Amino acid sequence: MPSIAHDPGHGLWILSGPGSSYVLHLDDAHRLRGLHWGPRLTLDQAASLLNYPAPGRRSFEDPADGTLDLDTAGAMRYAHAGIQVRFQDGVRDLEPRLVDATQSDSALVLRFADRHYPLIIETHYHLREGTDVLERHVRLQHTGGPADGPITVVRADSATWVLPRLGDYRLSQVRGQWSAETRLTRTPLPYGETVTTSRRGITGHQANPWAMIDDGSATEEHGPVWSCALAWSGGWKLTAQRLPTERVTVSAGFGHDPVTRELAPGEELVTPVCVGAYTEDGFGAASRLWHRYVRDHVLAHPDEVRPVLYNSWEATGYDIDVTGQIELAEKAAALGVELFVMDDGWFGARTNDAAGLGDWTPNPERFPDGLAPLIDRVHELGMGFGLWVEPEMVNPDSDLYRAHPDWVLHQPHRRRTEHRNQLVLNLARPDVAAWVHGRLDELVTKNAIDFLKWDMNRPFTEAGWPDAEGDPDRLWTDHVHALYAILDRLRADHPDLRIESCSSGSGRLDLGILARSDQVWASDNTDAVDRVEIQHGFSQLYPAQVMGAWVTDSPNPFTGRSVPLDFRFRVAATGVLGLGGDLNRWGDTELARAAELVAEYKAARHLVQLGEQHRLSGQGDLTAVQYLAPDGRETAVIALRHARHFGHRDAPLPLRALDPAARYRDTATGAVHHGAVLLTHGLPLDLAADDHTSTLVHLVREPA
Ligand code: DGJ
Repeated sequence: MPSIAHDPGHGLWILSGPGSSYVLHLDDAHRLRGLHWGPRLTLDQAASLLNYPAPGRRSFEDPADGTLDLDTAGAMRYAHAGIQVRFQDGVRDLEPRLVDATQSDSALVLRFADRHYPLIIETHYHLREGTDVLERHVRLQHTGGPADGPITVVRADSATWVLPRLGDYRLSQVRGQWSAETRLTRTPLPYGETVTTSRRGITGHQANPWAMIDDGSATEEHGPVWSCALAWSGGWKLTAQRLPTERVTVSAGFGHDPVTRELAPGEELVTPVCVGAYTEDGFGAASRLWHRYVRDHVLAHPDEVRPVLYNSWEATGYDIDVTGQIELAEKAAALGVELFVMDDGWFGARTNDAAGLGDWTPNPERFPDGLAPLIDRVHELGMGFGLWVEPEMVNPDSDLYRAHPDWVLHQPHRRRTEHRNQLVLNLARPDVAAWVHGRLDELVTKNAIDFLKWDMNRPFTEAGWPDAEGDPDRLWTDHVHALYAILDRLRADHPDLRIESCSSGSGRLDLGILARSDQVWASDNTDAVDRVEIQHGFSQLYPAQVMGAWVTDSPNPFTGRSVPLDFRFRVAATGVLGLGGDLNRWGDTELARAAELVAEYKAARHLVQLGEQHRLSGQGDLTAVQYLAPDGRETAVIALRHARHFGHRDAPLPLRALDPAARYRDTATGAVHHGAVLLTHGLPLDLAADDHTSTLVHLVREPA
């Protein structure tokens, strides 16, 4: 049961989950400090922190720097400020004073008003039942009249997280680029400001809006970890700051430099949620907490098992038609595929990437009778039908653009830079958003579509809105809000429709899009060896049940590497399995083995997708992940080994979180293992000597 307690005498609020507390302190100058974030404390224990000696002499700084939860710019604070504004008269300093506090067992709102200017700043805190995550956001409101003019919001971070003093600080994040996303990095946190950001209008391949901090000694299984993640799918900025005074904060919010946002009199700005979590027991426990949070509080259909899908993209590219798609669908169905997804190339003049985007009607030469013959056949084969769309985009060579050249993001006197021959529709315009929604709604209503792959292949450039009323910069936020509104409305009106978020891979992967999608395409790079690293980084925050992974051809069309079919399957089996190869080119032996491997996945996928994930530490270059059923009665282990060295056999792989007193039966071999032995000595592995070998072991607990 979450709890929030208040000690008015000391100006303290303490917000506690099952294993952690977050303590706020309002000082005499009405500065709201983050006093504690870590193991659970009582109010008394928290109050004792107020007697701690002030840090040493600091003649050139305000000791509040690096300690503020409501981190407003002003006075002698020179560090990064989470809230920065500019009033019409040029004043930038803020002097907030608490005017109201409302609280329940799980929510707290502290309302501050500037001492002079017409600005309200509210900090919102929400504890989620049964977990140690704290959701935060900020609301700014211009309470003045026309004479006050607009207030420019320069920065409105959703949260500034104040870290406790640690012996040292290490920052974990993911970095990447197209086809090489979500690669984990752990680096000592340097002094100064470490900024990760997206200025692209999407979450981005280059960084993902989350960070974890530890003291440099945490491992997969040991040590406290502080983490936070932003629920936002547009531009963002995360600032991890280490001051010379050894105070550390992590501040995160939407928007990027130098974009600002004008608040007109009476207007408000509500930031997206930033979620924070303190965990003990290492990065593995931190990931499990995030996975549970995504399941319990973010996803709309967390208990559904995602189907095995087939996607035609790597097989056919733009060269598609009804006959070819039906042929692939029949082959896919024979392998046990449950959802057939037709990718790009089915509409308008889209025979390559230079034309047709925006014209969402089936190409009459490729689909003379519309989509129905294909969809009907796919359904007849017992599969769901999925369709690729890229609704926020337009090719200049399209009927849509010819009719509405003003609908795209553009600036006067500036070029319209094309990327992949396309431009971005300005969804911040209500007419454009309404048109996009209308087309998609029509598509889904008129055709029996079960699944949309919603793609977005182009970052914002020349992001202008020349005829905007008011501040054109608001397009950065309004585009994302409009995207969310379209997705929310489509999902409400078509409750059986499921959605995959894609942005040339995982360019739009975040907690905001996950509230409106059922899975995310993890990367355009389907090379199984590269995927091990990409998926390892993905798993730090996001659960396997949202991670789309396909088995494609060998040699891989992107990297040219050849990898055995079993290995390709087992790598994809650590997420939501899909097939994406050209099945017309697969031989009978390959197809027969593929059917077996699909069946193997289906037998274990409830564990992979809905179970608790433990990344195991194998020896050498062995990567292994264990998935445990919530009731502990079954577990699956996927082990992947790139190369055997020196002829040494694989060491048994110690498993996690089993009942030491129980015995577990291997469903494939019938071998029975003791829980205590699996936990200490490990699961014997019988991997072949070849490179890229793998296994999926499914263990079921024997009745007592
Ligand atoms: C980028 C996606 O990531 C691919 O899977 C594919 O859908 C292409 N777009 C189609 O244009």
